Amino acid sequence: MIIVNSVEELLKYTRDLDSVGFVPTMGALHQGHLSLIKRARDENSTVIVSIFVNPTQFLEGEDLDKYPRKELADIEICKRAGVDILFMPTVESIYFKDELRIEAPAIRGFILEGAKRAGHFNGVLQIVMKLFNIISYNRPKKFRAYFGKKDAQQLILIEQMVKDYFLNVEIIPCEIIRDSNGLALSSRNAYLSKEEKEQALAISRSLKRASKLIMQGVLDTKKIEKEMREVMKSLDIEYIAFVDRNFKKQERIELKNSIILVACRVNNTRLIDNIWI
Ligand code: PAF
Repeated sequence: MIIVNSVEELLKYTRDLDSVGFVPTMGALHQGHLSLIKRARDENSTVIVSIFVNPTQFLEGEDLDKYPRKELADIEICKRAGVDILFMPTVESIYFKDELRIEAPAIRGFILEGAKRAGHFNGVLQIVMKLFNIISYNRPKKFRAYFGKKDAQQLILIEQMVKDYFLNVEIIPCEIIRDSNGLALSSRNAYLSKEEKEQALAISRSLKRASKLIMQGVLDTKKIEKEMREVMKSLDIEYIAFVDRNFKKQERIELKNSIILVACRVNNTRLIDNIWI
C-alpha cells in the first residue's frame, strides 16, 4: 500500500488506471468503513481511500478538535483490507486562501442535518468535489465512489452534486452496518460511555418498531412517529423525519420511496440513524 500526503504525489500514482474505487473518510475507521472498502475492492482494480478530517464541515463549537484520530490503526486496517493507495492530505495541501466555494442547495441542503448544522453540507460538498477531482484527475477508465446510507442526506446531496455539475463518477450507496445490538456504527460512537451506548440503542429500536408497523400496513407517518417517540422517550430527540428519496417530506410512507431519519442527543453526543423503506 502506498501512502501519500500531497496532491502532486498522488497524481504520480494514478496514471493509466483502469477502474478506481474511491472511499472518502475522516478516519477512525470501523466496520462500516471496512464494508465500503471491501465492496470497492470487489468491484475495482484499484482502491483508493482518503483520510482527511475536513475542517470546513465542522461548525464553530463542534467537535473538530476532539474528533477521533487513529492514524496508525487506520493505516493497518487499510493495509489489511487490500487498499492500494491511502491518501492523507494536510489541510494546507488541499485548501487555498480565499478559494471558490460550493453551496449546498437552498432547500435540501438546509433542512434536517442542514438546519441543525447550517453550512455543514457546504463543507462536505466542497471537500468531496475536491477529492473527486484529485482522485480522477488522470481519468481512470471507470471511477466509482462509495458512501454509506447512514449519512443519508449527505449521500443524496452528493448524488445531486454529481448530477448538477455533470461529474463523471458513479456513486455507490452502501448499507448501514450495525453492531450486534443494532447500534449504527459511527466514529462518534467512541464518545459514548457504556451506559450511553445502552441508552442509544433506543434509536435503532425505534426504527425497527417503525419498520414493523409499516409491515403491518401502518403508513401514516404521524402514527409511526408517535410510536417512535415512545420508544425513544429517554432520549433528547432533535428530529424524526419522513422523506422520499428526494428528501421531500412525506405524510404517508411509500414503499421503496421512503427514508425515516432520526437525530438524537445522548448527553453531549449527537447521533443520527435511518432506515430506507
Ligand atoms: O462521511 C464522511 O466521513 C465525510 O463527510 C466525508 C464524505 C469523508 C467528507 O469529509
